[in-house]
Amino acid sequence: MEFSMRFKRTHRCGELRGKDVGQTVVLAGWVNSNRDHGGLVFIDLRDREGLTQIVFDPKVSAQVHAEAAALRKEFVVMARGTVAARSPETVNPKLPTGEIEVKVLEVQLLNPALNPPFEIDDEVEVAEEIRLRYRYLDLRRLRMQNNLKLRHRVAKAARDFLDAEGFLEIETPNLLKSTPEGARDYVVPSRIYPGHCFALPQSPQMLKQILMVAGCDRYYQIARCFRDEDLRADRQPEFTQIDLEMAFVDQDDVLSVTERMMAAVVKAARGADLPLPLPRLTHAEAMDRFGSDKPDLRFGLELVNVTDLAGQAEFKVFAEVVKTGGLVKAIRVPGGASFSRMEIDNLIAASQKLGAKGMAWFKVTEAGLESNLTKYFTPELLAQIQKRLNGVTGDLLIFIADRSAVTQDVLGRLRLQLGEKLQLIPKDQLHFSWIVDFPMFKRDEQKKRWDSEHHPFTAPHPDDIALLETDPGRMRSQSYDLVLNGNEIASGSIRIHQSELQAKIFKLIGITDEEAQEKFGFLLEAFTYGAPPHGGVAPGLDRLVMLLAGESTIRDVIAFPKTQRAQDPLTGAPGKFTAEQLEELSLKVVAEDPTQPSS
Ligand code: AMO
Repeated sequence: MEFSMRFKRTHRCGELRGKDVGQTVVLAGWVNSNRDHGGLVFIDLRDREGLTQIVFDPKVSAQVHAEAAALRKEFVVMARGTVAARSPETVNPKLPTGEIEVKVLEVQLLNPALNPPFEIDDEVEVAEEIRLRYRYLDLRRLRMQNNLKLRHRVAKAARDFLDAEGFLEIETPNLLKSTPEGARDYVVPSRIYPGHCFALPQSPQMLKQILMVAGCDRYYQIARCFRDEDLRADRQPEFTQIDLEMAFVDQDDVLSVTERMMAAVVKAARGADLPLPLPRLTHAEAMDRFGSDKPDLRFGLELVNVTDLAGQAEFKVFAEVVKTGGLVKAIRVPGGASFSRMEIDNLIAASQKLGAKGMAWFKVTEAGLESNLTKYFTPELLAQIQKRLNGVTGDLLIFIADRSAVTQDVLGRLRLQLGEKLQLIPKDQLHFSWIVDFPMFKRDEQKKRWDSEHHPFTAPHPDDIALLETDPGRMRSQSYDLVLNGNEIASGSIRIHQSELQAKIFKLIGITDEEAQEKFGFLLEAFTYGAPPHGGVAPGLDRLVMLLAGESTIRDVIAFPKTQRAQDPLTGAPGKFTAEQLEELSLKVVAEDPTQPSS
């Protein structure tokens, strides 16, 4: 095999069109398929940009035709040839290059390849473990290439936008101190200081605040964050935020910059205009109407509070819940009266799986509400319930009665399941909305104390400061989330910039002075040297790209993600420490996971 390339590439494999017919071109790429059709050999050559059919015709060159037979899948090939129009019956409308083919004059095999362990094809289903083990093959698929390109375009649009708005891109270190975002840390032991370790940042939160004290005014960073938490489709141990912070701003300023950045991103990704301003819902309203702080607003099926009516029924389950201060809520399911008994049983089972004790239901008929529960309700009460829910003949009304948090959560999730089942969700639509006025604190019933709902640097709502002393549970904060199609894609807040208020908040959430000093002393000290009012936000780049790409896991928009078990099958990470490393780091392993292969 020759050592160097005989030709210079002229085009990418997705580029040639009808207008190029007659040109002599050089393409390079991987053999996607090789078909021998009665003397002619057809190869689909693939690169990052697409596929082109190249044809080996013995009448053009007997030698080249003979060479083609040996070119198997994933061989790396360069071919020189002439662009020709395909005959009308062989035009492939599914391929952007489908009008043409390249008649090969010369071919060079640059490298053979082993038969790949799976087909490089967007349609072929392959176990994720195998895809990640051979990620370089998986990434050759055009779908994955398109995802990486989209991610690049989104990051570039964000950078360009933020640059134009006067933001400075400033890097912050990854070898850091523990940061309070609520997950476990990934730690890096220090060789120089035995028994000490760095923590990888869960976010650049405290450093971006310090940059505001430093007078940087507007900071951003496409920042890598590390969190050791339970993994899900939208969570990775290592993920990326478009992290930003601004000085001398209020909440409206941050929301405005963020949504204009989203408009720039949507324009770059989809070519579409995002109408601004984005809708805003208070946290209380989102919970009330949708049972979720990240509601999918692409469809209706809103939750309706019927606690007052439920309390008047003879039905024990409802009465008990109302008596103990619980919540009864309902959803009207249009057309749901046609659900079979089994479909309703499935909904009941789903509600139990989600944590409710059960689900009550009525069908709306010409004669009024019908179900096995009707006997516990007076006709007047049934009529009132139907009216409250705007039930019309053919509807199904479903009810969850439980502790407030359970009712909201279960009915909110049933709403999503019903939206899918009834095909009410317009999949192509991008629905952005802000959720504002989050509660300042949440109650940790086990530890019998308050915790920050966002993080401890979040400023209270200016109207609610007095509640700090009297009723912290009712306090709202100046924090906000951006929601896209039912996913939290950004979170941020206006920060506390005065040490005195910060100290009060720490005290309420049970952080002692010593602890505060030990954990965030450097930040508190910085605040004593003239901190400007400031606030910021951090959109999750992976989630944003996942939704723009129409994928259902962020692993498909990350070049080298970890598995659901936080491993990398490609490199075998995490690997074991060698005895020398352990010694150098003054570490001792007390228990090893026997299920993991040694590296
Ligand atoms: P928060 O912790 O809410 O806020 O994170 C902000 C956004 O980051 C994304 N995200 C994740 N994406 C993938 N995998 C994960 N494990 C993961 N965790 C979070 C989400 C989320 O909305 N410092 C604050 C922001 C601020 O106040 O400015 C912070 O990190 O899209």
